[in-house]
Amino acid sequence: MPSLCVFGAQWGDEGKGKIIDRMAADADVIVRYQGGANAGHTVVVGEERYVLHLIPSGILHAGTVNVIGSGVAIDPLTLLEEIAGLRERGVRVTHENLRVASNAHVIFQHHRRIDGLSERWRGDGRIGTTGRGIGPCYADKAARTGLRICDLLDTGRMRVRLTAALAEKNALIERVHGEAPMSLDEELARYAEVGDQLRAFVGDTGAEVRDAYAAGKQILFEGAQGLMLDLDHGTYPFVTSSSTGVGGVASGAGFPPSRLDHVVGIAKAYCTRVGEGPFPSELDNETGERLRAIGHEFGATTGRPRRAGWFDAVAVRYALELCGADGWIVTKLDVLSGFDTLFVGTEYAVDGEIVQRYPAGRPSVEGVEVRYREVPGWTEDISGVRRWEDLPERARAYVDLLEDLTGTPVEMVSVGPERDAVIRRPR
Ligand code: GDP
Ligand code: IMO
Ligand code: MG
Repeated sequence: MPSLCVFGAQWGDEGKGKIIDRMAADADVIVRYQGGANAGHTVVVGEERYVLHLIPSGILHAGTVNVIGSGVAIDPLTLLEEIAGLRERGVRVTHENLRVASNAHVIFQHHRRIDGLSERWRGDGRIGTTGRGIGPCYADKAARTGLRICDLLDTGRMRVRLTAALAEKNALIERVHGEAPMSLDEELARYAEVGDQLRAFVGDTGAEVRDAYAAGKQILFEGAQGLMLDLDHGTYPFVTSSSTGVGGVASGAGFPPSRLDHVVGIAKAYCTRVGEGPFPSELDNETGERLRAIGHEFGATTGRPRRAGWFDAVAVRYALELCGADGWIVTKLDVLSGFDTLFVGTEYAVDGEIVQRYPAGRPSVEGVEVRYREVPGWTEDISGVRRWEDLPERARAYVDLLEDLTGTPVEMVSVGPERDAVIRRPR
């Protein structure tokens, strides 16, 4: 498929990094189109484990071009650290294989600071953000007071715009939050050199991606977070501040939606969420702890323990439908080995009424009750299995059930963090 979008169909951490890295072997250009360093995408190659925050998960494949699109909120200090970290480990990162959108917005230190202060201000209503300045940066973008990467390339322009921006932010920090203001001189000094260090990577990446597509290259769009964290369609206000689904590609990559050839969702064989907010199939008990322990469910960015629960077919069906997914990938099936019984959320009870459709029109899914189907588990370790027919019958039946419930074909099953730990689902 010349252009392919892969997105998370739950609340993030579905294993996108692992799958994108795997798919990048067949891609020419890999494009991040939204989010920022709130993302933590893990790629395991042999003994090496990489956690990518801003750089697309195709960077480990020689011959790929990796693009950070205009829809990404870029913390330039984190980006430079990430580039340096990869280079130290022998990964080639140059202006040829990493491209950065000149019109992407910049996350400054004041955005990170305000992220933390706003969370404190919200008190019990806090979102549990990653503290990476994501919300405040996108808010400035929409308010038209933000700075873009192109502004960093011109020190004079940066100085003028940052001075104006910080004056307003300092008023907020001092007068609303009652905290000490940030030093303009320190902020200016911190970012003075950044533009020069990034200059070679920066370009009109939208045009570069469209040209690559026109030239017959394979383009892979890498979603961050998950559809249930989408600003419009997720569990608002407990969401991130960008369009995490396929809808984000058009604006965030500068790529026409009419040219998207294939869309694939990713979901775990169970479910996790990190941060606050509703999670209908959450297991706040020993079973949830067991899933967290076996699945190593700790945030790749913040290290926070992830909340865990059963697979929620209502939510995944919604995500796949909303994004028009042609297929989807089940990850972490290996984690379910050894459970006597598994439960799959099939429908919700909403105010006493049974619904199959995710109740997106309600102010919150707080209070909806999940109805489960109980299915027998399997005992075998499946992490070494590479062929569908070698999976235990009950594991195959489990995947068949998820496919039936979502009404969307499962294209692949993942059974381990390693690159090759995947099973193609025969048709
Ligand atoms: P992402 O944010 O969607 O890229 O996912 P994360 O990297 O935050 O979290 C997924 C975690 O599960 C990482 O530690 C991966 O190495 C790991 N992982 C991915 N796929 C599988 C799988 O099929 N089985 C197991 N056991 N681990 C997996
Ligand atoms: P990847 O790409 C899981 C969550 C945060 C919080 C909410 C808002 O690795 O799947 P933010 O910092 O974005 O303002 O926080 O979104 N969140 C994620 N949860 N995986 C992620 O990324 C996430 N990025 C943000 O925990 O609940
Ligand atoms: Mg992650």
